[in-house]
Amino acid sequence: MERTTTVISPQDIEAQLDHCRAVAQLTQQWPEKPLAFVDTYGCQQNEADSERIRGYLSEMGYGFTDDEEKARIIVINTCAIREHAEQRVFGNVGALVHVKRRHPEQLICLCGCMVQQPQVADKIRASYRHVDLVFGPHALWKFPEMIHTLLLHRGRIFQNADEAGSIAEGIPVVRQDSVKAWVSIMYGCNNFCSYCIVPYVRGRERSRKPQDILSEVRQLVNEGYKDITLLGQNVNSYGKDLDEPMDFADLLAQVNDIPGDFLIRFMTSHPKDATQKLFETMARCEKVAPVLHLPFQAGNDRVLKVMNRRHTREQYLEKIRAIKTLIPDIVLTSDVIVGFPGETTEEFEDTLKVLEEVRFDALFTFIFSPRTGTPAASMDDPMSKEEKLANFNRLTALQDAISEEKHAAYIGKTVRCLIDGLCDDERYDLTARTPGNRLVRVVGDEGALGQFREVKITDANKWSLFGELV
Ligand code: SAH
Ligand code: SF4
Ligand code: F3S
Repeated sequence: MERTTTVISPQDIEAQLDHCRAVAQLTQQWPEKPLAFVDTYGCQQNEADSERIRGYLSEMGYGFTDDEEKARIIVINTCAIREHAEQRVFGNVGALVHVKRRHPEQLICLCGCMVQQPQVADKIRASYRHVDLVFGPHALWKFPEMIHTLLLHRGRIFQNADEAGSIAEGIPVVRQDSVKAWVSIMYGCNNFCSYCIVPYVRGRERSRKPQDILSEVRQLVNEGYKDITLLGQNVNSYGKDLDEPMDFADLLAQVNDIPGDFLIRFMTSHPKDATQKLFETMARCEKVAPVLHLPFQAGNDRVLKVMNRRHTREQYLEKIRAIKTLIPDIVLTSDVIVGFPGETTEEFEDTLKVLEEVRFDALFTFIFSPRTGTPAASMDDPMSKEEKLANFNRLTALQDAISEEKHAAYIGKTVRCLIDGLCDDERYDLTARTPGNRLVRVVGDEGALGQFREVKITDANKWSLFGELV
């Protein structure tokens, strides 16, 4: 069956904003301004979705709180990537039963990738009866309508039908940060890596129009944002589905042409689609940060094949050599899975060899977690948990040593950093990010917040750098 993207029309979004206004009229009659608690799990894509949920809630007259006791609405935006993420959500949602007993008027909403899965929605329907609303990523654009219906009639709503996915422009946004911003450039994924749930819960790849992306970035720059991350599960296949096809490198160059002093980041790139043209564009565009997150998952070709990654170790290393030639100070990060079904310890050691050759600045490491409905979940998985954990520990020990050495090389240098927050460690005042996105704890005054400033690096450990404003 052909499955195509649904384009949500401006009229559809206008109708949702009408629901917002109707809800605002209801909430205005309540004795106190109602508050909402939005809790987000998972990746930046989910963070970006939560900013839209907050945008809608704000139009409906809600303020925000982090205290579930004070909230009239609790929204939990969930992630399905590993079992651990789901267990945490079930634990927290289970505990809300007591909160709701004290506040029967409260609405409890579960959304995001985890509840897009039919077996999860069924479990909530049967065993978590205090949950009022369940909706997957495809239904986010009609959140106001669902809330309006619940406020008028109570009852429960479940909206998690499987679909290819949609694109909606014009949903209001309340951003969490005033310096850094996420901009989704595409949604969904077509890659079907054999371990991964994302294509099942986020639908097929679909790209926003370049003019919509460019005008969002222009507006953010005018509002003073300094660090803009373009988001997609596989940004390198941006634009293939557009009526006028365009590639990611060209989009990056157009974002770079927007006037202003800001940094451009992007994630995630898939190695099979990361092109020489992309690397050359990164090298040429002065606003594009010198950092590349390029997940390789495993260092052994047999394992990569069963993972359906569609690249070999050598092809991956070739790309790394190409970018290092063009941008010698490139900061490289990656994702790795340990304990994929059937991976032997010998095969795992090929992953260690990639670490030694590339010398990543940081690595995100995961133990394989079987996801219902993915091919890998039914593969033979003979290795014991203990053995997987031992391999995992070898991996993180090696990476820690590399990160520590790479961080130590910054000591004594002066680096232009973006001061992005206040530091909770009392020996330091501010947090900052190097262009390559390394965290720096900084001594200096708060007036620097939100600015690019020269920072002298005085110390480092495996996690972060330390320094002072120059
Ligand atoms: N689209 C991105 C990654 C999204 S998920 C990409 O292709 O790189 C983030 C990371 O979670 C993946 O890179 C992978 O390392 C990890 N991951 C995904 N599914 C997993 C699973 N079933 N078990 C363990 N780790 C997983
Ligand atoms: Fe998952 Fe692979 Fe798509 Fe990344 S590229 S989201 S790992 S299926
Ligand atoms: Fe999780 Fe969905 Fe992101 S599964 S990692 S929140 S796309």
